Amino acid sequence: MRQTSQHGQWTSRFAFILAATGSAVGLGNIWKFPYIAGENGGGAFVLIYLVCILAIGLPIMIAEIMLGRRGRQSPINSMRDLADEAGASKFWSWLGWLGVVAGFLILSYYSVIAGWAMAYVVRVASGVFEGVTADGVSNIFGQLIADPEKLLAWHSLFMMVTMLVVARGVKGLERTVKFLMPALLAILILLVGYAMEQDAFEQGVLFLFKADFGKVTSEAVLIAMGHAFFTLSLGMGAIMVYGSYLPRKVSIGSTAVLIALADTVVALLAGLAIFPIVFANGLEPGSGPGLIFQTLPIAFGHMAYGSIFGTLFFILLVFAAWSSSISLIEPAVAWLVENKRMSRMRACIWVGLATWTLGIGTVLSFNLTADIKLFDKTFFDILDYLTANIMLPLGGLSIAIFAGWVMSKENSASELQIKSPILFNGWLFLLKFVSPIAVAIVFLNAIDVI
Ligand code: TRP
Repeated sequence: MRQTSQHGQWTSRFAFILAATGSAVGLGNIWKFPYIAGENGGGAFVLIYLVCILAIGLPIMIAEIMLGRRGRQSPINSMRDLADEAGASKFWSWLGWLGVVAGFLILSYYSVIAGWAMAYVVRVASGVFEGVTADGVSNIFGQLIADPEKLLAWHSLFMMVTMLVVARGVKGLERTVKFLMPALLAILILLVGYAMEQDAFEQGVLFLFKADFGKVTSEAVLIAMGHAFFTLSLGMGAIMVYGSYLPRKVSIGSTAVLIALADTVVALLAGLAIFPIVFANGLEPGSGPGLIFQTLPIAFGHMAYGSIFGTLFFILLVFAAWSSSISLIEPAVAWLVENKRMSRMRACIWVGLATWTLGIGTVLSFNLTADIKLFDKTFFDILDYLTANIMLPLGGLSIAIFAGWVMSKENSASELQIKSPILFNGWLFLLKFVSPIAVAIVFLNAIDVI
């Protein structure tokens, strides 16, 4: 197999951890997790999500990094060569294609939401939220998303900066995330501190952790599982392509555990910060994608130096979204560079333009086309559902089947170098049996077959 990737290599294990954590921690943790937990009743949903992270997400993450490092190319080409090595059909490279399409679809709406965060940097900094009421915040949010021109402008800016970072290659990715993660964590902890002072803190904690399985639907289980893939950046080749830049000697298993842990802690902290504010202000936990944009400004509007902390928070959220979005597009860019002999810059421009164009659909789905629905879903809802709940689990399932059943045990053992046979066999068992069966059951259940 190849020793290094033609696109370069991370300078250290730490650099990979930062980049992969940068990819994992993003809008999924701070924007999406709280609102889907709110929509699906809280505690039981959170518990199912945590089980999915451990039993499905973690083993698949290890497998995805492993496939990337062994293939050393874009997911499409890596999968083709790995299938070759295992004597399996070249057809496996479609897994790479599924990922390229999923990444493109996700980034198109991800960038629009990241645009909201950018718009909030300016709003918080100008002090409009000082002493604000819940109604006031809702109005400000409502005005923002009702204005397609503003959303388009922010979406365009976000896409431009993302493409610039990706154009600079592996080194560019590395530098961006180094200072970001610790700072984001610090502000989140500050917000949890504010939430703890609220009388509703206990109510918020109970909402997040008290499991009441009576409310759980099969749809909610599908959403929890889909989110486990989404939040860990699994199932579309992002972590695979990052793995292809990983130096040979780094231990994959322990690294993946660290990444999954960091990702989960950030999501839970975000929930702990948000729900007490929701209940303290009589807001609705199930109010949808606007949840953090309608709750956190209340906290910033009422705490000392809130405008400063708030500005910093939204800046960091934008950075967290950047470090995620670059991984969404990296598989496509790497493939264009490998197969179409394009320069990185050219590849970025093409992919960026296509993503930007599709993003206009999401921009409009919050205002002009908000009433145009298919299966009761707007354009944004459909993209979100299709990618997170269908494409990513399908991609993850295929990765599990390939790494567990197609690739030889000798090869995976030599790639992973897990010393303890119990841990290695435990991983293989989860990958071969638990993850595929769990994904299949959740799928079939959600489409009402079972
Ligand atoms: N994990 C990121 C988040 O939580 C989003 C993301 C980045 C992603 N790369 C991905 C999701 C690849 C799915 C697949 O915000």
